Amino acid sequence: MKLNVVILAAGKGTRMRSSLPKVLHKLADKSLVEHVITTAHSLKAEKVIGIYGHGGDLVPKALSHLDVTWIEQEEQLGTGHAVDQASHLIDEGLVLVLYGDVPLITTSTLNALIEISKKPNTMGLLTAILDDPTGYGRIVRSSDDSVQKIVEQKDASYDELTIDEVNTGILCAESKQLAKWLDSLENNNSQGEYYLTDIIEMAVSDGVEVQTHTVSNLWEIEGVNSKIQLAMLERKHQLNIANSLLIQGVTLKDPARIDVRGSLTVGTDVEIDINTIFEGDVTLGNNVSIAANCIIKNSSIADNTKIQPNSLLEDSSIGEDCEIGPYARIRPESVLLSNVKIGNFVEIKKANIANNSKVNHLSYIGDTNMGSNVNIGAGTITCNYDGANKHLTEIGNDVFVGSSSQLVAPVKIGDGATIGAGSTITKEVPASELALSRSKQISTPGWKRPTKNKK
Ligand code: UD1
Ligand code: MG
Repeated sequence: MKLNVVILAAGKGTRMRSSLPKVLHKLADKSLVEHVITTAHSLKAEKVIGIYGHGGDLVPKALSHLDVTWIEQEEQLGTGHAVDQASHLIDEGLVLVLYGDVPLITTSTLNALIEISKKPNTMGLLTAILDDPTGYGRIVRSSDDSVQKIVEQKDASYDELTIDEVNTGILCAESKQLAKWLDSLENNNSQGEYYLTDIIEMAVSDGVEVQTHTVSNLWEIEGVNSKIQLAMLERKHQLNIANSLLIQGVTLKDPARIDVRGSLTVGTDVEIDINTIFEGDVTLGNNVSIAANCIIKNSSIADNTKIQPNSLLEDSSIGEDCEIGPYARIRPESVLLSNVKIGNFVEIKKANIANNSKVNHLSYIGDTNMGSNVNIGAGTITCNYDGANKHLTEIGNDVFVGSSSQLVAPVKIGDGATIGAGSTITKEVPASELALSRSKQISTPGWKRPTKNKK
């Protein structure tokens, strides 16, 4: 059976107090509605249709990289009116209604709802039991427990307000029946809106059974209406990720102090200390340890490598048995092979560094190919930029660069060469030779330091 998903995302979100449409606010660095779209695609939906309104085409534009058909709901006349905007695009199959501001709904919950909705003459409704149901539509059941209707808070009787089973807003129905019910909606209620929830009563009178699936994790159905709710769901989401890492065997010094804003793939015996942020796609091999306060983005780190505190890594690949940091910055397109050491206050950019090489202190290595067993002394700079263009520095194997040297690119240092400390190298250094460019030291006996002039 074909599955169509309609995502309601036309609301303004006044309580966010922001000029950005609500569904574009980010949770784990991804907009709320993108979470929902990703989940919709995980259900193998034939069509994903987004209903937008407030903020003009900001929403479709922000999500143009995703496979969604966007339809504008010019006026927000209610949830029923919103779903009806998609009717003409859907010819057959099931229609699942999701909310662009309910980001943490899971694939497994939705699959359970879809399963019950597949039965002939049945529609599925996702409900929840709440200690405080205030504000939600209530599920009204008859004496035999079958669902009769949904009544909105503002339209509910005193007795109906005591019902603690609520409508999550998420439902799944057969497309032709749904289109017919949406056609018959009226707005004679306390809010003057076309309520999607009114289709329940119509289904019942058409002899369609309304089957419910009740969520056990309440965070799955929580919507974002304010920055407080956004912050709370962010923490819940992060805690869920932390728990899943713990289940995979990762040691987390504090599950409340890790942020994963993307996907984190881990090997065995990984240890992560506090306050590290993972962004984009990050892969950590076996026995990798990440110390406190690191930011690691779109990078892979191979087995047994240690990342020391306060290090930043981006778009890079780090080999096995390396040690990075503390206070190291590895910028995009850096590839470090195995047993490489990058120490404190070292910046690496677009550099290939082969096995066993070391850049231990206070250096900048950019646009560089470095061989194996190289030692770069403290304060070495590859001068890669001439003010207009970037140039390559090529360093062979077994090279020793003395401290505080400048390698002015383009330049080549041959295998086994030695650069004396404090040298400015502008010409190729042949293999195995010593290059020195500093001026000769002079000593002046009896030198008197200047003294201050008296007034
Ligand atoms: C709705 C349900 C209620 C349920 C609650 C769960 C109805 C009538 N009520 O109430 O039973 O308990 O959700 O949160 O459906 N939207 C549009 N276009 C519109 C109207 C709404 O896109 O014309 C979007 C909103 O942006 C929002 C969602 O639909 O994301 C829900 O709309 P809202 O008006 O907040 O419905 P509730 O009053 O919360
Ligand atoms: Mg709401």
